[in-house]
Amino acid sequence: MIKTLLYCSPLLAVLLLSNSRTQLSPETAAPDLLARYGQYIFAREDCQHCHTLNVDKADADLVSLDGLGGKYPLSWFYYYLDDPRSLSPYSNMPSFPHLHVDTLRRPTLEQIIRESNPDELARLNASWSELLRQADTLKAQLENEGAFAKNGSEVLALIAYLRQIPSSPEKLVRDSIEHQQFLLQQQVLQAQLKDPNSALLKTANDSKQAKQGGRLFRTNCQACHGENGGGGVGPNLTDAYWLHGGKPEEIAHTIAMGVPERGMISWQSMTPTEVGQLVAYIHSIKGSKPKGAKEPQGNLFNDE
Ligand code: HEC
Ligand code: HEC
Repeated sequence: MIKTLLYCSPLLAVLLLSNSRTQLSPETAAPDLLARYGQYIFAREDCQHCHTLNVDKADADLVSLDGLGGKYPLSWFYYYLDDPRSLSPYSNMPSFPHLHVDTLRRPTLEQIIRESNPDELARLNASWSELLRQADTLKAQLENEGAFAKNGSEVLALIAYLRQIPSSPEKLVRDSIEHQQFLLQQQVLQAQLKDPNSALLKTANDSKQAKQGGRLFRTNCQACHGENGGGGVGPNLTDAYWLHGGKPEEIAHTIAMGVPERGMISWQSMTPTEVGQLVAYIHSIKGSKPKGAKEPQGNLFNDE
């Protein structure tokens, strides 16, 4: 039992190992009870059916939560678990609204402690008060971010668990490689945006590239910008109004870097030529007034 627990749960492993080294005095409760309770909820809700904590094990069926700690604000978890589509319109993640209603239970805590570290049972009273105190602290932190959780609700424990999921060694290696590549790509892109002879800007200004750009648009962009660029979740791209500038290099910049905090993802995976083709396509649909086009957003842009 302990062995399997150790295998599937780095958190528990750390807890058990640290407990065996430093004997806690009977009055003090373990510091991260709430996260342990959250780990129990994670297993009970069968989250591991679709998730792995190791990026190397991720595949089409297993989404990695490796290194989730620190990735999102607490309120993000709160809304995401209640309804993932409120934050990410095409999410396939199920919603777990009952966690926001159901509350933490003392018998459950007892069971968690019994299975992980029976020695702690002697201070169950202290542990239970400590658990509730930790839940209150997290609730107050959420309130600071404008999200109001129910007192002692289970979602608090699950958030406490999710927000500390560390990066595996494999993830750290990947991050550093990806980060290097990202920085290099950004440098190349910035250089191309300034160079009128670059593949990016030459393609962007070549109307013959619009057709290929249209193909890329239909695969990657129309879900948010409408079939003919008339807008949807994202703005209308056929009018003369732009939020982030209407010059070719400005449009290319928006596509490549995105506006992630406003729902426009960045397309760093595209080559400079592909970004250029998209710009050429967007130029070609200018003034086309597609049916049902969204009202203008941003500032009038005059390229004459
Ligand atoms: C039926 C499959 C499924 C189950 C069960 C599931 N998830 Fe997910 N989850 C997904 C998918 C798919 C994504 C990928 C992003 C998306 O589609 O929103 C995701 C994304 C996430 C993310 C965001 C990860 C990131 O880095 O952005 C978190 C956090 C998460 N899930 C937590 C949970 C928790 C906690 C549970 C259990 C209470 C759970 N999931 C159960 C399918 C599932
Ligand atoms: C998940 C939805 C989504 C997808 C997919 C998406 N966009 Fe966007 N896009 C947005 C949103 C939302 C905005 C508005 C951002 C803002 O308010 O600042 C936006 C803004 C833009 C802008 C700036 C418009 C302006 O007024 O300045 C351009 C250009 C753009 N997107 C092009 C694209 C292209 C090209 C693709 C495909 C490669 C794409 N988008 C895919 C949601 C999306």
